[in-house]
Amino acid sequence: MGDFALPAWPRPAQNALRNLQAVLESGRWSLPGAWQGRPSAEERFAARFADFMGAPHCVPTTNGTSALVIALEALDVGAGDEVIVPGLTWVANASTVLAVNATPVMVDIDPATLCASPAAIERAITERTRAIVVVHLFSSVADLDAILAIGERHGIPVVEDCSHAHGASWRGRRVGTWGAAGTFSMQERKLLTSGEGGAVVCQDGALADRLTQLRSDGRRFAPHPVEGESELVADCSVAGTNYCMSELCAAVLDAQLEALPEQNRRRAENAAVVDKLLEELPGVTPVRALPSVTERTYYQYAVRIDREAFGGVTATTVSRALTAETGLPFQAPYPPMYRHPLYRPRTKRRFLLEGRDPGRLDGPAGGLPETERAHLEVLTLHHPVLLAPDQAFDALPEAIEKVQREAASLCAVESASRESATPL
Ligand SMILES: Cc1ncc(COP(=O)(O)O)c(C=O)c1O
Repeated sequence: MGDFALPAWPRPAQNALRNLQAVLESGRWSLPGAWQGRPSAEERFAARFADFMGAPHCVPTTNGTSALVIALEALDVGAGDEVIVPGLTWVANASTVLAVNATPVMVDIDPATLCASPAAIERAITERTRAIVVVHLFSSVADLDAILAIGERHGIPVVEDCSHAHGASWRGRRVGTWGAAGTFSMQERKLLTSGEGGAVVCQDGALADRLTQLRSDGRRFAPHPVEGESELVADCSVAGTNYCMSELCAAVLDAQLEALPEQNRRRAENAAVVDKLLEELPGVTPVRALPSVTERTYYQYAVRIDREAFGGVTATTVSRALTAETGLPFQAPYPPMYRHPLYRPRTKRRFLLEGRDPGRLDGPAGGLPETERAHLEVLTLHHPVLLAPDQAFDALPEAIEKVQREAASLCAVESASRESATPL
């Protein structure tokens, strides 16, 4: 990298402080707090995010995990059910299925998108399947046309986890509005963030009503709120939990949302610069979007390596070497879910695991070949780097060539680190 620092993330948008101060002085810091005669920050953000998404309903939550939990609960997923999830994703996609007492059934990815493969989803369906969760991973959108058609054919709802894809569009419509529900994380590393935060968007009013109650201990909004009293009333048709977004987070998100389109535009511009630089290089192939992606966002820029060109070492070793050469924070993607160190279904007695098919809970016996391959072959770059000046990437082709030339030393580094990791 040249003589400029990597862009910081998170970065406060122009009106974040002003919005925060307004909430701090408002007398209402939480959704159940006393009504002040005007919409809460949470309601204002919900309306703005729904508008940005082109969705009639948005229910903000504490985080992306609770967004997934209430989406599954709203779709009536529960004990004994199976939910299809991709093998390559953050652990929350499995842990939230366990949280509603269902079994996560991990499926392989499509190597072109790194998202759940439609064929693998179809093969995994049983009479117990109650939902399909797809994740629009890194800078990709899953093949929504194929996956929605499968869902429709089998009468199974599709949940789109858009935690990596705030603002992406498929055939001119935002991702998250195609399935029964779209969920988002607004955790600190995400494209839109308030440190922690989440949301569910949906089209259906009855589902939105369930989602609203599920995230506020069963409460709904009072039709005629009274100043000084809570706007939430105990008018309950489904038991809920407290997953309410705080007013402080909503205030920050409102400001961050204003900055998102320009930031997404800038990231896409720089991603095109990197694509072009890598185009002619042997041994590296940027992950491309499917033709139906009409607006591509970049949570992580992803590039697949030909391991032979790098002496056969793993993406983890290549990432470290490239980071050392360029200062750019390369990383290998998640390990397959069934080997993820955070996936520990048997450590909580509240999960009803008895009688469950271990072949489903622990992933298929033979593993998921494309998911395994992606962990070894894909390099990712976290999005803040795409907000850097264009020349941040000038040194990248030369660094890649150098790392390939010196592959023998990478092999030595990798086998030394394997040996030091071997328990005595
Ligand atoms: C794909 C995906 N889904 C869900 C989550 C969970 O979101 P949160 O951390 O806000 O609970 C994450 C978080 O990183 C994620 O990457």
